Parts: sequence; C-alpha cells; structure tokens
Amino acid sequence: MSFKEVNIEQVPFNPFHKIGREWMLITAGTEEKCNTMTASWGGAGVLWGKNVATAYIRPQRYTKEFVDANDTFSLTFFNEQYRKALSLCGSASGRDGDKIGAAGLTPCFIDGTPAFEEADMILICKKMYHSAIVPECFDLPENEVTWYPENDYHVMYIAEITKALIKEA
Ligand SMILES: Cc1cc2nc3c(=O)[nH]c(=O)nc-3n(C[C@H](O)[C@H](O)[C@H](O)COP(=O)(O)O)c2cc1C
Repeated sequence: MSFKEVNIEQVPFNPFHKIGREWMLITAGTEEKCNTMTASWGGAGVLWGKNVATAYIRPQRYTKEFVDANDTFSLTFFNEQYRKALSLCGSASGRDGDKIGAAGLTPCFIDGTPAFEEADMILICKKMYHSAIVPECFDLPENEVTWYPENDYHVMYIAEITKALIKEA
C-alpha cells in the first residue's frame, strides 16, 4: 500500500470526529519491537509555533513504555472496516500476545516510526513535552472522581506533527 505526504494544514481533519468517534491507534517502538493501543482521547492544534497532537496515556498501558523509550510515535486513522481491529487493540494488551497480528494489521515504518499499512492516514509525531495529570490541578473535581477511581492519572504527551501521510487511491 502506498501513501503520499500531505500538508496537515490542507487535510480535512475534524479531531472531535476522527479521534473521538472514529478512534486512532497510538503506536511506538522499533522495527525489532513495537506496540499499539487504541485511543479516543486526544487533540490536534498549535503550540510553541508547531502543529501538534496531544495524546493521553494511562500509566499501565504497555504502549506507554514504547512511547517513553522513543522520540517519536505515530497516530493512525482507519476506515470503519477496521473498527473490530481497533476494538481489539483497545482491549487486549501487547504484553499478553501479538494483538497486532490478531487484529490483521501490518506494521510499516516511516523514517523508523511504526505505523500501519492498513491506515487511511498516518501522522508522525515527535515528542515535545509530557506531564502527568495531577490531582491538585482539577478545576472540576467531578472529573477526578469519575475518571480516576484508581488514581491512574493519564500522562499527557504533546508532540509535533512532523509528517502527514494519506493512502493513495
Ligand atoms: C475506544 C477506546 C479508546 C481508548 N482510549 C484510550 C486513551 O485515550 N488512553 C488510554 O490510556 N487508553 C485508552 N484506551 C484503552 C487502551 O487502548 C487499552 O487499555 C489497550 O488494551 C492498551 O494496550 P497495551 O497494554 O498493549 O498498551 C481506549 C480503549 C478503547 C477501546
């Protein structure tokens, strides 16, 4: 499958729909070993003069180890046909077996960053900043109560979108 590089500023990309409704995979690692997980929380915008994406990863995710160990990760977006694959990657852990293979996904590497051949769109992201959500900073305590009964606060990653690729027809 081939992809063409596009200018992210010229791609129709509604983050509320693409991330929140269609979901995405966050993938990091090397050609030797990589891992992926489904995410429906995140964002896209502008910070420090760069086009950035944000991702929120709980500490227990295996994928977090790969995101932390590498300078880059990818965000990949798929058509509805891959909903089951994304559900699997969002319920099984790569710690317990080859969920990428089980989901029918084929890793490909963009300048060394893992992504998937089956994706419709690939964003390559270079980490710029990360920080854990901290309990003392909730302006609306109900969110802490609702989302963190186990105190497993997400780590927020802010990353520059260094490359955007879309599948060639
Ligand atoms: C639709 C959906 C959205 C998810 N969004 C997130 C998210 O934004 N952040 C997060 O930490 N986990 C999220 N998860 C949970 C992880 O994808 C899930 O725990 C996954 O199995 C982790 O895999 P890993 O241990 O191989 O990293 C989501 C799961 C689903 C099904």
